[in-house]
Amino acid sequence: MKFIVCENYDEMSTKAAEMYKNLINSKPDCVLGLATGDTPKGTYKKLVEYYNAGEIDFSGITTFNLDEYYPMKKDNPQSYNWFMNENLFSLVNFKKENINIPDGSTDNPEEFCENYDKKIESYGIDLMLLGIGKNGHIGFNEPDDQLITGTHVTQLTESTIDANSRFFSADEQIPTSAISMGMVSIIKNSRSILLIANGKGKHDAIESLKDNKINPQIPATLLKVHPDVTIICDKEAYFG
Ligand code: GLP
Repeated sequence: MKFIVCENYDEMSTKAAEMYKNLINSKPDCVLGLATGDTPKGTYKKLVEYYNAGEIDFSGITTFNLDEYYPMKKDNPQSYNWFMNENLFSLVNFKKENINIPDGSTDNPEEFCENYDKKIESYGIDLMLLGIGKNGHIGFNEPDDQLITGTHVTQLTESTIDANSRFFSADEQIPTSAISMGMVSIIKNSRSILLIANGKGKHDAIESLKDNKINPQIPATLLKVHPDVTIICDKEAYFG
């Protein structure tokens, strides 16, 4: 794992966006893995700036998002589908048919997950963007004694429900389940992985990536088996 430690959130976001820009400009039909949360918002903002400056073209790009709440309608402003439209998709020139996000309104989640994995495997992901939960979760792969390998429906832990409650108003129900790419879906199908993290709250999770131990109670540690992982984080996440 390669660490790049930045002064602050802005520098982290710029460095992450530059990695994406370089990839897209050298491979205009590349496949991107994308994440939601507060962490990637700055990265997406920079990508939109590059697009507006005519420095980047998304028309040949295919995307796969990591996760979505379940059940969740696409047009719900709390959905990850909505988040991606608001922060990136509607602001640049992706082709709609090239965007893939787990379907939070499917009646048959098992079948959906199987097909999502098959599609990811057939495309392959050139660069997978990941955030990280305070408890070390990736997507919605939550701490457990055993992790599920492929895309699956999962129950969220109290810590994640708590962390995500900031996005919901008191009278809205915070989802307790989600569809998430599995750790093996991510590791097996991504050529390169970019994990971004900022703030003291992420320090414990980032600290667990510095040694050579793998622990399913900290799902992000599984990424250590992947040969090409870059972690771009700010000083607070790195040093605490
Ligand atoms: C959610 C998402 C994760 C994300 C994490 C951290 O649980 N499912 O993919 O990495 O939150 O979010 P944030 O970037 O807001 O700290």
